[in-house]
Amino acid sequence: MRAFPLRPVIYTHTLTVSRQSPLLLKMRALQLLVLFLFGLAGAQQQALMDYLERRLLAIEDRISMWHEQTSRYASELREFKQQMVSQLEGLDKTKEALRSELDTVGTRVDRVEREMDYMETQNGAQPCVDVDEKLVEQQVTVIKERNKAKYSKLTDCSDMISSIKAMKILKRVGGPKGVWTKDMGAANGKVYLLNGTDDNTLYEFGTVREFTSSQGLSAGKTIELPSAWRGVGHVVYNNHLYYMKEGDEMKLIKFDLQKSTVVDSSVFPAKNQLPAYSLNPETFIDLAVDEEGLWAIFATQENEKHISLAKIDPKTLDIEQMWDTPCVRENAEAAFVICGTVYVVYNSKLPSRSRIQCVFDVSDMITNDDAPNVYFPKRYGTHSSLKYSPVEQLLYAWDDGYQILYKLQMKKKLEV
Ligand SMILES: *[C@@H]1O[C@H](CO)[C@@H](O)[C@H](O)[C@H]1NC(C)=O
Repeated sequence: MRAFPLRPVIYTHTLTVSRQSPLLLKMRALQLLVLFLFGLAGAQQQALMDYLERRLLAIEDRISMWHEQTSRYASELREFKQQMVSQLEGLDKTKEALRSELDTVGTRVDRVEREMDYMETQNGAQPCVDVDEKLVEQQVTVIKERNKAKYSKLTDCSDMISSIKAMKILKRVGGPKGVWTKDMGAANGKVYLLNGTDDNTLYEFGTVREFTSSQGLSAGKTIELPSAWRGVGHVVYNNHLYYMKEGDEMKLIKFDLQKSTVVDSSVFPAKNQLPAYSLNPETFIDLAVDEEGLWAIFATQENEKHISLAKIDPKTLDIEQMWDTPCVRENAEAAFVICGTVYVVYNSKLPSRSRIQCVFDVSDMITNDDAPNVYFPKRYGTHSSLKYSPVEQLLYAWDDGYQILYKLQMKKKLEV
C-alpha cells in the first residue's frame, strides 16, 4: 500500500530516479496535476495511480529498448564500414601485385625477343626470309616498271593532233556498232568491215571506192572467222586480223587474212578486266595501231576508274610494257594512239559532241595540260570505234552505222 498522496513532494524522489526524458517528465507532471486537482481518495484513486505507473514503466522499457537498438545498429554500421574499407584495401593490394607481375612478364618477353634477335644475327639470314624479300623486291620493281620504265621509241615520230581538218561520211551500212578499217600496217588499199559486236563474218573490199559504190555488204568478199569476236576492239595489221574472241576468257586471236587461218592466240594477261570505255561496254580490249606498232587499251578492277595501256608484240602477242593512264573510263567512248600517245574521246550518255579530253604520252612529252582541245564535228551519234591509220593520218570512224573518215591536222609534240 502506498502512503496517502496528499502532497506531491512524496513523489519527488521517484522523479529523480526516472530517466530524464522530456516526455516522461511531462507525464509525471500530468500525473501530479491530476492527483492535485481532483484529490480523489480511496481505491479508485489507487487504481488510477497503479495504471499510470504501469504505463510509465512500459514507456520507460520501450525507450531503453530503442536506445539499445540504435546503438547496436550504429555499431553494426561501423563494423560494416570497417569491413568494406579493409576489403577495398585488399583489392588495391591485389591490383598492385598484378601490375607488378605484368611488368615482370613484359621485361621477360623483351629479353626473349632480344635473345631471339641475337640468335638470328648469329645464325645468319634464314633462306625462306631471303626468298620472301627477293619476291617483295621483284614486285616493287614490277610496279615501278609499270609506269616509270622509260619507253624506248622504235621510230622518230613526234606528231600529235592539232585539230580535225576534215570529215567525210562515206557510207551507211550495218548496225549501230562496228569497225571499218584498212590494213593499218600496209595500206594496200583494201577495206575491211566488221559489223556488230558479236559476229564472225568479215567483209573485204578491194578499195574505198569499191566499198562506197557497193550495194550493201554482200558485194564484198566474205571471210568466215573460226570464232566470233567480242566488242569492237579489232585491228587489221600487216595482213593479220587481231581480235578478242567472244567469251569471258579474254582470248586474243591473230588471224592470217591471206591464208584464212589462226596463226596465234593468247589469253590477255591482265586479270579482272572491265570494259575500257563506259559508253561502249562490249569492248574489253581495244587494239590500236600507230607508228610504233600494236597497242591494247583496256581496264582492270585494280585500277577500275582509269584506262590502262599496254604495248604488244604483234609477232608473239606478248605484252612488252604496261601503263596506268590518268584517263577515266566514265563517259569515254573510244580511244586511239598516235606516236605513243593515247587520245581518249569522251561523250555523254545523251550523245553530244565527241571530244578528246584526256591524253597520255608514254614518252612523257605531252602532259594532259598541253593536250589539244579537239572537238569532233557535230554529229547525232556516238563513235563505237575510231581506228587510226598511221600511213594516211586518218581516223576510220563508225558512228551509229555511218562510216566516216576524219583527216587529222598534226603538229610536233614539242611545239606549243
Ligand atoms: C549488222 O549488225 C547488226 C547488229 O549490230 C544487225 O542487226 C544487222 O543485221 C547487221 N547487218 C548486216 C548487213 O549484216
